[in-house]
Amino acid sequence: LAKSHVLSREEFSFLLDNIGEEDSYLYEKAREAALANYGNKIYVRGLMEFTNYCKNDCFYCGIRKSNRNANRYRLTKEQILSCCEMGYALGFRTFVLQGGEDGSFTDDRLTDIISSIRTRWSDCAITLSIGERSYESYKQLYDAGANRFLLRHETYDDTHYGKLHPPALSAARRKQCLFDLKKIGYQVGTGFMVGSPYQTFENLADDMLFLKELNPQMVGIGPFIPHHDTPFADQKAGSADLTLFLLGLIRLLLPKVLLPATTALGTIDSDGREKGILAGANVIMPNLSPPQVREKYLLYDSKLCTGDEAAESLRSLKQRIQNIGYEITVSRGDSLNI
Ligand code: 5AD
Repeated sequence: LAKSHVLSREEFSFLLDNIGEEDSYLYEKAREAALANYGNKIYVRGLMEFTNYCKNDCFYCGIRKSNRNANRYRLTKEQILSCCEMGYALGFRTFVLQGGEDGSFTDDRLTDIISSIRTRWSDCAITLSIGERSYESYKQLYDAGANRFLLRHETYDDTHYGKLHPPALSAARRKQCLFDLKKIGYQVGTGFMVGSPYQTFENLADDMLFLKELNPQMVGIGPFIPHHDTPFADQKAGSADLTLFLLGLIRLLLPKVLLPATTALGTIDSDGREKGILAGANVIMPNLSPPQVREKYLLYDSKLCTGDEAAESLRSLKQRIQNIGYEITVSRGDSLNI
């Protein structure tokens, strides 16, 4: 894998079934690949969770439409711009606008917000993470100045996808969105949850092959963590070990990809982000949302949103990263995987 950057479905399943055997060798090779492409630099992205309204009803997600207990909010344009202002002062050069699929953020409203950010902070990358929209909508937002888009495929397999989502959503539509985004010119990030309910090693092997096919600029993976107000409240969480193993495999599969050590990984293991970097990850996405809304963007229980997750704690994050021999960099950090 380190040399050819590809394996068969059977080989991936076999490796996942025998996790623990050669783990440290995998992590060594993954670190070498990250170092060869990106050096010891860790990129940071400022994450702004601008709405937790969502028209979808994904079985795993705490901000699903049917969750009456979710305390809903939307940030105003002014609040979003002041997050950017604060983030810029802290050194962030990528703003990630993430939210549920909220119909009140129409194309025109988003276009206005994006073009304001584009004009005022012209040296920054603007990343959207706002779910499924039409080709025309994606194109309009791109033309307004957005550069990147994060949309996890969640799982490649149709049947597994159907066990995680209501019938209105499909794996095929999801994949179509990803190919549309690439065609328009976005730098695209995709990914999946590790240890989501009913997931098999074969499913994960398919996810790996799909990553190879799509060849995205970024891949975000994190453990599934149950949320108490969802149909999956009593399901088992995914494991940090399997997540780390997959991070290592993805670094070797797509050596130049941007690979975040995600919040979910940091949530199930307090050293998760450091371990993620030592398994080949090279991006961290601290939270830039206003403190009073952070705890409302609860995709899963106990989600990290204070301490090192808070952008203000960037200094302590820098220290933790330095302690393992890496350095946070404030550059835009465009993907080398093109
Ligand atoms: N546990 C872990 N990750 C989750 N996400 C949503 N709900 C959960 C959960 N319960 C992830 C999905 C989504 C991303 C924004 O957050 O993969 O794409």
